[in-house]
Amino acid sequence: MIMEQDLNKVEHLYDTVAKKYAETFSGEHEKKPKDQEILHRFSIKIGDRRPIWDFGCGPGQTTEYLKNLGIEISGLDLSEKILEQARTIHPGIHFQKGNILEFEFDNDSIAGAVAFYAIVHFTEEQVKIACREVYRVLKPGGIFLFTYHIGKETIHVEEFLGKKIDIDFMFFTTDFIFSCLNDSGFEKIEIIEREPYPGVEYESRRAYAFAKKPGL
Ligand SMILES: C[S@@+](CC[C@H](N)C(=O)[O-])C[C@H]1O[C@@H](n2cnc3c(N)ncnc32)[C@H](O)[C@@H]1O
Repeated sequence: MIMEQDLNKVEHLYDTVAKKYAETFSGEHEKKPKDQEILHRFSIKIGDRRPIWDFGCGPGQTTEYLKNLGIEISGLDLSEKILEQARTIHPGIHFQKGNILEFEFDNDSIAGAVAFYAIVHFTEEQVKIACREVYRVLKPGGIFLFTYHIGKETIHVEEFLGKKIDIDFMFFTTDFIFSCLNDSGFEKIEIIEREPYPGVEYESRRAYAFAKKPGL
């Protein structure tokens, strides 16, 4: 039986590190040219379609980046404390609590979604559920962009941002991510891999995955 990462543990982790996480990662896209290029591409694909969501938004750095590109966007996260940080830093953006594995959104109700490193604590089974959930809530033609750490390993972490914690960080192969998206029904799947930016971020290889729900 596959052990599922306990979402209460994930929520507790981000509640615990919320302030430090916000201080550390706010504005991070300024130091990552590939993030900027990909987010620009997403904003062009989206155009004036709405609504757009940032799932697992954390303190809202990606939400804000897209808002500054002219996208009306809201953020969703599991952790109430990290949402408090997001609301304080970005008072003009709507943020709400929710679970990517079980959205409260209707079928075919969202035009586009991003999820930057929101799947880092998911088991493979949970990634499959997340892909199916995002597919369900996207409108036909809706665009999904998300990022992940490339690899096969699971890293158990007991200290993060100066706090004692107990959590697993999961890495995924691009073949696995491709098949999750494909099996969920997505088309036009494009996965762009890159090397880490030394001194800027944890030194893992990263990937950006674009996928489209068939339709207009
Ligand atoms: C590594 S952080 C990424 C945050 C932000 N997107 C970033 O790039 O820094 C993972 C975020 O996903 C959220 N998260 C994890 N599992 C989630 C779930 N099932 N539903 C909604 N949010 C979730 C966490 O609370 C956390 O804020």
